[in-house]
Amino acid sequence: MLKIAASMPSEYRDASAQELASRIAAAKADLGDRLLILGHHYQMDEVMAFADARGDSFGLSRIAADQHDAELVVFCGVHFMAESADILTGPDQQVILPDLSAGCSMADMADIDQVEHAWAQLAEVVDIDQVVPITYMNSTAAIKAFVGRHGGAVCTSSNARAVLAWALGDDAMPARGKQVFFLPDQHLGRNTALAMGYPSDGLVLWDPALPLGGQHGAALEQASVLLWKGHCSVHGRFTLDQIERFRSEHPDGKVIVHPECTQDVVDASDAWGSTDFLIRWVEAAPPGTTVTIGTEVHLVYRLANEFPDLTITCLDDEVCPCATMARIDAPHLAWVLEEAVAGRVRNQITVDGETSRWALVALERMLEIT
Ligand code: 13P
Ligand code: SF4
Repeated sequence: MLKIAASMPSEYRDASAQELASRIAAAKADLGDRLLILGHHYQMDEVMAFADARGDSFGLSRIAADQHDAELVVFCGVHFMAESADILTGPDQQVILPDLSAGCSMADMADIDQVEHAWAQLAEVVDIDQVVPITYMNSTAAIKAFVGRHGGAVCTSSNARAVLAWALGDDAMPARGKQVFFLPDQHLGRNTALAMGYPSDGLVLWDPALPLGGQHGAALEQASVLLWKGHCSVHGRFTLDQIERFRSEHPDGKVIVHPECTQDVVDASDAWGSTDFLIRWVEAAPPGTTVTIGTEVHLVYRLANEFPDLTITCLDDEVCPCATMARIDAPHLAWVLEEAVAGRVRNQITVDGETSRWALVALERMLEIT
């Protein structure tokens, strides 16, 4: 197939929702088994309606690793997820991200040069052979490769606890090192480590904008987990005030949130966990339950539609979409599929060989751990 970089023609933007839906369905039927469409839970319904499989970032990476038949994998999610899919799929499979501008502001908060520099600074004050780097899936392939090269692993919000236990040891497992360098989401790292019983004074924030991460050597030496100063701007919108307001209006209501929320929000919730955990919580809730959810709003709306016997709201009533996830829309999906039918691969995501090799090491460690 020809690979051509081009932008989407305006006819797709101008087409009606109905026309786009029938063009997507026709292109999908035409491509048949050659095509697999993966949809992250935060995608809009107009896209999710065509997903062959839905999942959180862990579930979708497993599907990408396990399926070898489809020659085209259209990834409806964000850039770091499509990169991971490219790394986990075979050399004859091509991964397409319908809009290349669908990035992730959190992944952008850890740049590989900053991370290399931080590692070199850390090596001057701690025993670097005892530091295990762990990166959240929400990071570039270059960061995953860094982690793979230095003996660490990837984690997602559904397995962060297991991956931290793998690194620092627990009753069942020996430790791989004495400290973890956790990238790039401070909140997932902090919330998970606290839930595992690590004391808060051993969780030290590394600010990449400051020399030595803004810390003193002694604090770094004593830390069990060094937390990169990154966050999600969507989950960062949820606040304790919102929870208190909800509880005063719905004394019997429940609050469930994603671990990318800040510690005070997680601590004040009734339950917290990965996207998949939140969905399972809702599925298991008795009819009549009132629940407010602190996560991306397209998922919350979908759950509210799918479970009419529950009262489901978004914790932030101003609404909090992930703007980059929403860049994958019906026009872009229709365009890349029709181009594929015509033999042209648009918006392919390719990770170079060396980066891919080491990022795969870190991803496979995660898949082995969980
Ligand atoms: P999950 O790991 O729950 O899929 O979350 C990915 C993400 O980007 C959350 O903001
Ligand atoms: Fe990134 Fe946050 Fe969007 Fe998830 S919700 S893709 S972490 S910006």
